[in-house]
Amino acid sequence: MDSSRQPLLKVENLTKRYLIKKGFFSKNYFTAVNNVSFELNTGQVLGLVGESGSGKSTIGKLILNLIKPDEGRILYNGIDITNNLSKDLRREISIIFQDPRTSLNPRFKIYDILEEPLIVHNIPKNERKDIVVKTIKSVELDETFLDRYPHELSGGQRQRVAIARAIILNPKLIIADEPTSALDVTVQLQIVNLLERLKNEKNISFIFISHDLNVVGKLSDYIVVLYKGKIMEKGVKSDIIENPLHPYTKILFESLPPHHPKYKKTIISIMEQDDESFDGCEFYNRCPIKKDECKTKPNYKNINGREVYCHFV
Ligand SMILES: Nc1ncnc2c1ncn2[C@@H]1O[C@H](COP(=O)(O)OP(=O)(O)OP(=O)(O)O)[C@@H](O)[C@H]1O
Ligand SMILES: [Mg+2]
Repeated sequence: MDSSRQPLLKVENLTKRYLIKKGFFSKNYFTAVNNVSFELNTGQVLGLVGESGSGKSTIGKLILNLIKPDEGRILYNGIDITNNLSKDLRREISIIFQDPRTSLNPRFKIYDILEEPLIVHNIPKNERKDIVVKTIKSVELDETFLDRYPHELSGGQRQRVAIARAIILNPKLIIADEPTSALDVTVQLQIVNLLERLKNEKNISFIFISHDLNVVGKLSDYIVVLYKGKIMEKGVKSDIIENPLHPYTKILFESLPPHHPKYKKTIISIMEQDDESFDGCEFYNRCPIKKDECKTKPNYKNINGREVYCHFV
């Protein structure tokens, strides 16, 4: 394969199981990520959508090597990083977390928070200040913020600092794990616009994790819909938004208006307990169109380049 054409990130058949101890002698495994594959090209945004507990953050942690998969591999520019992300490549992949109140060290001033990754990656001392100042300005905050502590900032300003820290080493890939969920709706939009501008200016690729379909729809080129760790549907953003095919995607995209206050609550309350002996489609319990065939697992169907996990599409 021509190396210039290979995807920036390729996730192949990734599976992660967590050990759940049920009693003194009994052990059980819970599959948080189930045979997940996707690709991301340079400069593109992949939106990872699914309700709470569907495995979105686990996929982010696997890519960052914070946890190890049970099966599958992760290729970055064709290099296998599944179990050994080198320090040099680690520099190219960064993360923005949901809640900047907990992701920024409260005892550090903003200057120190931004300087820290530069120190870790041996950027010479005489270059650091310029980089810190340039970066804080690029997230639309002025230099006076550098002398403040995180608690002296608003939620939106703190998230701008978290973004500044994520971009300070010029990453090629950012995993943004619900970066706007903790913010007011108007501030969410500002942060989305900022991320979009940075993506375009710096050609950064994103994995954008969110429940918020408005956000995913605005930024993503490609969408992966997850349910119980399994991909239900994946494809080009416009195909999925204009014509969702999987019944779960339809529920996510049609039944609840974006920003509806009950949105998160509803999707959590309709989660159900699994019958562990059931070996059919993972979506069976919730599916509005289930039939007897669904007691066996479907195969992925390729429909005009889109993959859908359902017997009836
Ligand atoms: N260390 C762990 N041990 C056991 N189970 C875990 C562990 N970490 C996550 N899980 C489980 O794996 C599943 C997926 O978790 P994950 O955090 O990836 O979900 P998510 O899609 O990011 O959810 P949310 O939208 O709430 O952030 C959940 O059911 C969670 O309880
Ligand atoms: Mg999460």
